[in-house]
Amino acid sequence: MENCGDEVFFRGLVEFSNVCTSDCFYCGIRKSNAKPNRYTLTKDEIVECAKFCADEGFGSIVLQSGERQDAAFAEFVEDVVRAIKSETMSAALPQGLGITLCVGEQKRATYERFFAAGAHRYLLRIETSSPGLFSRIHPPKQTFETRIKCLETLKSIGFQVGTGVMIGLPGQTISDLADDILFFKNLDVDMIGMGPYIVHSDTPMQCHEKETTARKDEILQLSLMMIAVTRIVLGNVNIAATTALQAMDPTGREKGLLHGANVIMPQVTPLGVRRDYLLYEGKPCIDESALQCKGCLENRVTSIGRRLGKNAWGDSRHAIEKKPF
Ligand code: 5AD
Repeated sequence: MENCGDEVFFRGLVEFSNVCTSDCFYCGIRKSNAKPNRYTLTKDEIVECAKFCADEGFGSIVLQSGERQDAAFAEFVEDVVRAIKSETMSAALPQGLGITLCVGEQKRATYERFFAAGAHRYLLRIETSSPGLFSRIHPPKQTFETRIKCLETLKSIGFQVGTGVMIGLPGQTISDLADDILFFKNLDVDMIGMGPYIVHSDTPMQCHEKETTARKDEILQLSLMMIAVTRIVLGNVNIAATTALQAMDPTGREKGLLHGANVIMPQVTPLGVRRDYLLYEGKPCIDESALQCKGCLENRVTSIGRRLGKNAWGDSRHAIEKKPF
């Protein structure tokens, strides 16, 4: 409580494109998976989602997509960020919605453009802080070093930076997880988003399905413990109760909040494309409208005696206290 109060902040989540040039061995939208229909929402569609968030008092939005490094993508994202900022300014939100980007590894100049356009937070998970394990779950072209460099670059530009890991990866040890928390601490991040690893059957890591399914209860428990210990070690950062927790347990997100999380990300992605953004199997909330997701999550938050943080960006105290002024 003393680290983040009893407020829970909502960030509307828009999964605006599943086009991806990366090939992560665990992920359902990896480029080598031919099954999903590849889509990219238009600027207007994304701005509509943003207006919904602003009208509903969410205060912040997360724009997430597969990874693309081409110039047209950078320009599109920059343009979308500017449009959201200008279309969502109001008396309640004088600087418009807070925007968090989650669009992967990019070069410095691209990150700078996104920041200048008005995005002020960036999520880039390290996935695991063990370089050996990282190299076993990614193709050789995707390196641990590049990921670290991107995180450092984002920090130096001035973004509030979030990272996180998957919990229960094949071969991951308790000592790896402890090191993950020390990694978060050393990087001095503002936000954490982490959750259980869940098998997707159209990925190379599908071969671990049996053992991962057998460990389901243990992995859920480990994920909750990771939230709790991260809250104790990092103090006043923002920690998300991620959707993957709910995929493992119908009340997984409430449990996440009860173990120290203070952020929740209601789905606002248009219904028509949700099934094509399946990073893992059993993803919840793919048939509910944005309004239903909002109502459902509000109930979940109040059911455990917490309050909703409304019309505020909901920056972590860690980030606010770090500001130079
Ligand atoms: N299980 C759990 N999380 C996953 N992610 C991708 N694939 C999976 C999976 N199979 C997570 C990664 C990525 C985030 C957007 O989704 O950690 O960074």
